[in-house]
Amino acid sequence: MAASTPRKILVTSALPYANGPIHLGHMVEYIQTDIWVRFQKMGGNACTYVCADDTHGTPIMLKAQQEGITPEQLIARISVEHQRDFAEFGVGFDNYYSTHSPENRELAELIYTRLRDAGHIAKRTIKQAYDPVKNMFLPDRFIKGECPKCGSKDQYGDSCEVCGATYSPTELKNAVSVVSGATPIEKESEHYFFKLGDFENTLRQWLFPREHKDARDMHVQPEVANKLDEWFNAGLQDWDISRDAPYFGFEIPDAPGKFFYVWLDAPIGYLASFKNYCAKKGVSFDDYVRPDSETELYHFIGKDILYFHALFWPAMLSGAKFRTPTSVFAHGFLTVNGAKMSKSRGTFIMARTYLDHLNPEYLRYYFAYKLGPGVDDLDLNFDDFTQRVNADLVGKVVNIASRCAGFINKQFGGKLATTLAEPALYEKFASASESIARSYEQREFSKAMRDVMALADVANQYIDEKKPWALAKQAGKENEVHAVCSMGVNLFRVLIAYLKPALPRTAAQSEAFLNIPALSWHDTATPLLGHTINAFTPLMTRVEAKQIEAVMEQSKSTLAATTPAAPPSALAEAIKLEISIDDFNKVDLRIAKIVKAQHVEGADKLLQLTVDLGEGKTRNIFAGIRSAYEPKDLEGRYTVVVANLAPRKMKFGVSEGMVLAAGPGGKDLWILSPDSGAQSGMRVK
Ligand code: MSP
Ligand code: ZN
Repeated sequence: MAASTPRKILVTSALPYANGPIHLGHMVEYIQTDIWVRFQKMGGNACTYVCADDTHGTPIMLKAQQEGITPEQLIARISVEHQRDFAEFGVGFDNYYSTHSPENRELAELIYTRLRDAGHIAKRTIKQAYDPVKNMFLPDRFIKGECPKCGSKDQYGDSCEVCGATYSPTELKNAVSVVSGATPIEKESEHYFFKLGDFENTLRQWLFPREHKDARDMHVQPEVANKLDEWFNAGLQDWDISRDAPYFGFEIPDAPGKFFYVWLDAPIGYLASFKNYCAKKGVSFDDYVRPDSETELYHFIGKDILYFHALFWPAMLSGAKFRTPTSVFAHGFLTVNGAKMSKSRGTFIMARTYLDHLNPEYLRYYFAYKLGPGVDDLDLNFDDFTQRVNADLVGKVVNIASRCAGFINKQFGGKLATTLAEPALYEKFASASESIARSYEQREFSKAMRDVMALADVANQYIDEKKPWALAKQAGKENEVHAVCSMGVNLFRVLIAYLKPALPRTAAQSEAFLNIPALSWHDTATPLLGHTINAFTPLMTRVEAKQIEAVMEQSKSTLAATTPAAPPSALAEAIKLEISIDDFNKVDLRIAKIVKAQHVEGADKLLQLTVDLGEGKTRNIFAGIRSAYEPKDLEGRYTVVVANLAPRKMKFGVSEGMVLAAGPGGKDLWILSPDSGAQSGMRVK
């Protein structure tokens, strides 16, 4: 990697939605990008890594309503959570911003206006599902009903999870709005469309440049190019870029009540975050975005959002006279223990849950070890993870330092030898620099990790052969001990430099131990001689089975916390809908004594309660409060129940009422308790 003229590189990861926490699936992407960026920076390139929260759209608007807060409050809170998770995983964004920003509004308006003025926007009236109670158009995901193909109940408006059929929401049988429970009606509205077909030639040229010499000169990976070819053959359709109020987003200029669809302003958010960065740092934004820019622009994304990044986005950019991306790098999806992440199996793991129990460097290494340049899915198998981390990082890499440093510190005042005992061996390590650099550059992280571990094996063999611990016991062998251990420390330093993009924290600790400034890629060419190191402190401990168990256990319980018992927006409706006193009087709320509480076999959210409603009348109630209460702590307590709720047949039996509880869920759930003196059967008014 010759750093003669540093490259100017702008890198992005997809912007995570601001309606939920970061999970380990997301982390594949942010870790992959971060490793690549750190590698570029280490090699002396001017590389800038930006990201932001993707804050607009219906789900975020409704989630805020459900929580009784404004969308702005919601996205502010999520932004803090996301950034905390990323920081703890060592993801080093140069700027983390929000799509709900002045820069993004301005750029979205600019790009839209340029596209419109160049004739790339069409208007047409279309019919869509509409919620007559909530007075809003319904995205497909907010309509549920029976599959028109196989009749399965409770399927979304776009596709059936049981038989895989895809259809339009009007075809669903007995459709209901998830927002209000009302039957959707069809309603007309004028929409704005981006004419993607206008860009067919531009896109074909961008995707399949004629003179490309090998895959590296293409703007997408080869397997992605094939997929795109299919899309071209299917024909490029106009893209609906508008949504009607109520919508959380940017209003379209000159179109009151119409908003940009979230996916229009989301990728523009990349540029907005960068613009915000440029203003703070005095960097020229224009230098990076003008059509003839000599800078490089890379987007790391998951394969699910290719259509947006490889078709809409380059088309929008070229139509609005901005540069197009140098490459879009798509990756595959994460599975855990061989299967899709599953809440009930405890494998739908939030970043936070992982961080509560395990060192983030482990996961960074494991993902690096598994990641190639393609779109294959990758599996986080926890047995393999444990074994890999313990064998490679603890057993091989850290071991080299821990076997050598003690002697240097104790016997030689921390000072390394002034010459190298085995220059050829050092050279073997130093000369791997170029091929490992090539692997990083081409996102062949898996190959880079394997090559480094092969070198670590060589270093360990060297120490095994020389046995400094045995030499140390023999008189007159001090120089040899010094030579071998100094050699070991030098080999360790080279390995740490090679691993630094993947293991930034371990590298920083190692730099402190080695008493050296931050390692750059080219430092490996020259060894450390006659240099004084600091005392060695253990850099990493082994992964323990109980840590993994704790992660899975906690993932099962966060499930309860993140799955509201009621459909998402029932609560929002309750807060907003006024009812009459007569409506209220229909609800028969009663004080009840919990006489018995027990777990329900096979139900991880429910407790089965027997409640006494006075005069010896008891009821059986299933309540979703298992995450918050031990059965024995409930027995004998008084609470409030809805006594005239129609009995409901559930999987585990009939529930004859409802216990009232408040709180976000999980452990934070509280049943209502009357003051002492209240008796079973008393009506609550
Ligand atoms: N908000 C959009 C992206 C807009 S970019 C202008 C979005 N957000 S997301 O939160 O759903 O996903 C963010 C990134 O994480 C996407 O690239 C997505 O592919 C990736 N992943 C989400 N789940 C994933 C796995 N289970 N495995 C690997 N990557 C995954 O899409
Ligand atoms: Zn079906």
